[in-house]
Amino acid sequence: MAAEKSKVLIVGGTGYLGKRLVKASLAAGHQTYVLHRPEIGVDIDKVQLLLSFKHQGAHLLTGSFDDHHSLVNAVKLVDVVICAISGVHIRTHQILLQLKLVHAIKEAGNVKRFLPSEFGTDPAKMDKAMEPGRITFDDKMKVRKALEEARIPYTYVSGNCFAGYFLGGLCQPGQILPSKDHVELLGDGNPPAIYVDEDDIAMYTIKAIDDPRTLNKTVYISPPKNILSQRQVVEIWEKLIGKELHKSSISKEEFLAAMKEQDYAEQVGLTHYYHVCYEGCLTNFEIGDGGVEASKLYPEINYTTVEQYMRRYL
Ligand SMILES: NC(=O)c1ccc[n+]([C@@H]2O[C@H](COP(=O)([O-])OP(=O)(O)OC[C@H]3O[C@@H](n4cnc5c(N)ncnc54)[C@H](OP(=O)(O)O)[C@@H]3O)[C@@H](O)[C@H]2O)c1
Repeated sequence: MAAEKSKVLIVGGTGYLGKRLVKASLAAGHQTYVLHRPEIGVDIDKVQLLLSFKHQGAHLLTGSFDDHHSLVNAVKLVDVVICAISGVHIRTHQILLQLKLVHAIKEAGNVKRFLPSEFGTDPAKMDKAMEPGRITFDDKMKVRKALEEARIPYTYVSGNCFAGYFLGGLCQPGQILPSKDHVELLGDGNPPAIYVDEDDIAMYTIKAIDDPRTLNKTVYISPPKNILSQRQVVEIWEKLIGKELHKSSISKEEFLAAMKEQDYAEQVGLTHYYHVCYEGCLTNFEIGDGGVEASKLYPEINYTTVEQYMRRYL
């Protein structure tokens, strides 16, 4: 008999990635709980989103990071906790709030697996990352340390580049709609990166939660057809629009000098683009014993290719 599917709590379910996790969890037939904070005010979009989750079968729970008991009560209802709390400085960065969630999970004692808010570059590979962007990786590592010390079973998900940010902007920071005229290459535009449709990140994540092969491991979502350089992404776009873009290039030195002129939140994001697009930090290592690759684990999933993703901008 097939094992029963885990009950899942999603924290941060109203977010950019979180809402996709809710959708994927429901689609996979998990009993899905969504924790939302009480301070909704008159945010009508958020209420409508929560109601749409409820309509699709999710259980809504009110809870706050300022109310330890509300967190304990929520995690007691489920087997798996997935957190997708914000971690992008140009939106908000609340990664360390998860230390309170770790506390609650430890106290509740029933959770079989916790997936903290990661979903991007593997922070364990970024110990030499530059200031100020390294804060993202440092904070994610603090959460890892706390949950591992609390002996909470975990899965870390490295979703590499969210397609909406990276493909939408042809890998140019600060842009999320592809131009039909011009692109600025970061350096020579040749280091490969990995682009993943956010809905696919959510789908692979939900696949992983009940899989013994991903227990206490990092799941890298690295679909082979989506490992491409900025130049290759631009070529795909050019083919789709039937036109060659005018190209300029910004050297590493110019990029870093321009970064210093920006405000703090922008600098954090630019640091990440620097490591991905100039240094190739997503592809310059082999997945070791502590990791598994999602498209190999779940070959039955037809992931979205870069070309398919980019068609939406035509
Ligand atoms: N690899 C990539 O390219 C990439 C890109 C983007 C994000 N990421 C990663 O993905 C993860 C999720 O990011 P996201 O952009 O999806 O997040 P987001 O949309 O900015 O926010 C996610 C959630 O955080 C909640 N939240 C924010 N502040 C809160 C607080 N003080 N108390 C309680 N809840 C709070 C929001 O709840 P409310 O709706 O109530 O505000 C929302 O549900 C992060 O770890 C981030 O670093 C990776």
